[in-house]
Amino acid sequence: MADTRELTGAEVLDAIGPAFAADVPAFETALAHRRTALRHGDLPRWREAIAALPRADADRIELDADAPSATLDDIDAAALTAALRGLSPWRKGPWRIGPVEIDSEWRSDLKWHRLAAHIADPAGRRVLDVGGGNGYFSLRLAGRGAAAVLNVDPTLLFFCQFRAVQHYLAAANAAMLPVPLEALPVAQPFDTVMSMGVLYHRRSPIHHLSRLRAQLRPGGELVLETLVIDDPDDRVLVPEGRYARMRNVWFLPSLTLLGTWLERSGFDNVRVVDVSPTTPAEQRATEWMPFESLAAALDPGDPTRTVEGHPAPLRAVVLAERRG
Ligand SMILES: C[S@@+](CC[C@H](N)C(=O)[O-])C[C@H]1O[C@@H](n2cnc3c(N)ncnc32)[C@H](O)[C@@H]1O
Repeated sequence: MADTRELTGAEVLDAIGPAFAADVPAFETALAHRRTALRHGDLPRWREAIAALPRADADRIELDADAPSATLDDIDAAALTAALRGLSPWRKGPWRIGPVEIDSEWRSDLKWHRLAAHIADPAGRRVLDVGGGNGYFSLRLAGRGAAAVLNVDPTLLFFCQFRAVQHYLAAANAAMLPVPLEALPVAQPFDTVMSMGVLYHRRSPIHHLSRLRAQLRPGGELVLETLVIDDPDDRVLVPEGRYARMRNVWFLPSLTLLGTWLERSGFDNVRVVDVSPTTPAEQRATEWMPFESLAAALDPGDPTRTVEGHPAPLRAVVLAERRG
């Protein structure tokens, strides 16, 4: 009997769709190497949720909206809500699927607005979204006419959420592969590579930046978003333990040091286009993500500090070009 806790090749092909048809053999090899990582005890439950999504033809689809949305006729709202709730917690969004508003933990639209006016026009570009979660940014880029957007993110719940929203939004130019960047074959170069909220989770930031560069064509654009510290010098914070209650946070550089990392990794034309503190208005618990969120990670007496005494989260959006 098939192991029901393993993701099937058919499910992955479904999420890849036509946009990357030529790359399927290379992707199948990458997935074959990652078979064990594609198991999860909750996968049968998530599969049931996807199978329970009611069928409906969308009257109107808006991908490039603050809540990417599908207007659905005659949908069983209770069944739809129950199926989508079965894929909680929803961290990235918001989404509007028929009558259901998915109010996710993150207001990802706020991040989108901090970068959308600065990045190269996505129209006609091949874009790689590294660690793109459930695909919020990928679908917005698809809505701006990207030729093809590939989201690589190893978290299987986010893959299941991507499949659920694609069930209704049906963006033929957006695809997802449930693998980490390191498992992606370095083949077809991309015009744009995005890495948002990933660098500080990596133990080796220079390796990550070099890998991002390897996926870009010469002159292609890197869109990097990461946690930084407000310091005029070449400094880096390496938290001793947790940072804002997150395990797995390694390097928070100052902007000047981040610029040096980028230049040493083979990028030039480095531009900081936004620096913003993350506030509980942008990241908060909702009924779609009912667990503790940013507010519980900030010092109640001094919200400029985390509960561990570090500077509170400050995020920068940096653009750069692949040199040579
Ligand atoms: C903080 S979230 C950021 C999500 C989204 N990019 C955003 O900016 O809102 C980090 C994401 O990176 C993914 N991730 C972690 N390691 C990764 C890797 N090696 N390759 C690709 N994605 C990774 C996680 O599964 C998670 O979805």
